Amino acid sequence: MQAPYELIGGDAKVRELVTRFYDLMDTDPAYSGIRGLHKPDLGPARDKLYLFLSGWLGGPQLYTERFGHPMLRARHLPFRIGTTERDLWLACMDRAMRETGVDENVRRGLSDALFKTADWMRNRDG
Ligand code: HEM
Repeated sequence: MQAPYELIGGDAKVRELVTRFYDLMDTDPAYSGIRGLHKPDLGPARDKLYLFLSGWLGGPQLYTERFGHPMLRARHLPFRIGTTERDLWLACMDRAMRETGVDENVRRGLSDALFKTADWMRNRDG
């Protein structure tokens, strides 16, 4: 079975997806509730999400090669993440997947898996 990494189109597509995701977060006020949690410069976040997703999607483990275990939940503890922030993150990613032409079936599968990851990042009620 092919990994989602190959199904979406490999390295260039993962980069494109992350670029779209953060461009949307940066420019559409709909996502201001999570944009404000990030530093003014999104450059490092763009790089790290790209490196992480490469491995998470079943491609090269670029993040762990450079930084070791991602410890994602611990790294997100400084930010207030409730259901509102979780759902904004997921909505932004879903839109980025649609706008970069991720195959419909692949997108649905990834949305389910991303929900679990994002929900596990919640550290506040509401
Ligand atoms: C649930 C809602 C989420 C919110 C509000 C959120 C927010 C953030 C923020 C504010 C940062 C710090 C970025 C900076 O340096 O300015 C960050 C880092 C990061 N996030 Fe999230 N995030 C969420 C979910 C996720 C999910 C679902 C993933 C993975 C699928 C993810 C992957 C990452 C990675 C890899 C980093 C970089 C970690 C590092 O410093 O090495 N995040 N996130």
